[in-house]
Amino acid sequence: MTEKNKNYWQSYFDKKAKEEDNIYKRVGFVSEKNTELVRNTVRSYVGKPVGKKIMDAGCGDGMVLSHLAQDNEIDGYDFSKNMLKLAAEQGLNPIYSDLTNPDLPFENYDIAISVEAVTLLPDPIQTLIKIAQSVKPNGVAVFSVLNKFSIIRGIASLIYKYALKKTLPQKVSYFELKACMAKEGFSLESATFVYWLPGIYLNSSASRFTTLKLLFANNIIFKFRKNENQ
Ligand SMILES: C[S@@+](CC[C@H](N)C(=O)[O-])C[C@H]1O[C@@H](n2cnc3c(N)ncnc32)[C@H](O)[C@@H]1O
Repeated sequence: MTEKNKNYWQSYFDKKAKEEDNIYKRVGFVSEKNTELVRNTVRSYVGKPVGKKIMDAGCGDGMVLSHLAQDNEIDGYDFSKNMLKLAAEQGLNPIYSDLTNPDLPFENYDIAISVEAVTLLPDPIQTLIKIAQSVKPNGVAVFSVLNKFSIIRGIASLIYKYALKKTLPQKVSYFELKACMAKEGFSLESATFVYWLPGIYLNSSASRFTTLKLLFANNIIFKFRKNENQ
């Protein structure tokens, strides 16, 4: 993230946290139903832990895991101070951190999540790996990212780039993330493809992987587990 980009996104999220009442628009999401599909999948992958140490990287207002805050210790990392204030109200421990170059504790957490936060960074996969390295052996890392192979996102990126002279957030390759995480000692336990077009919202497990699923999914949610013997 260039300094200009970083300042832009920091003020964008600071302003949203302060002025936007809609809980979806507040964290920059366009579609309410899509956001709920993503969040519910992330929540089901995290389960109902008790007494665990959890990290939410790019936590925004903390709503994704707020239901677990009473029974667990959740550190919320973000670079928007106003978002962190909202996250603290949800029971998260607010930690100011720039995920472009995060200084995260090694093997400190039982569970780490990051939902649609690294898409604004220059190298999303490198950041996801750093987040994953903070998970203990046998711990879990759950990531929600924009699908690099989505046809719809591809067309939108072209329109933005050539007609509007703007860039859309970064997308992540299913294959590249899986391969990079394997090198770090993580196995892919589950993945879900999320589809949405106006009026159509669907979730589909990647257990029966098909190219068609990959081409039409807007978001992908991954659940990785760190191997015990790492
Ligand atoms: C799209 S919102 C998602 C928030 C939350 N994960 C959720 O799903 O509701 C992205 C969040 O990432 C944070 N963020 C973006 N770039 C960041 C960076 N470089 N360092 C730390 N936080 C960042 C923003 O402040 C914002 O709160």
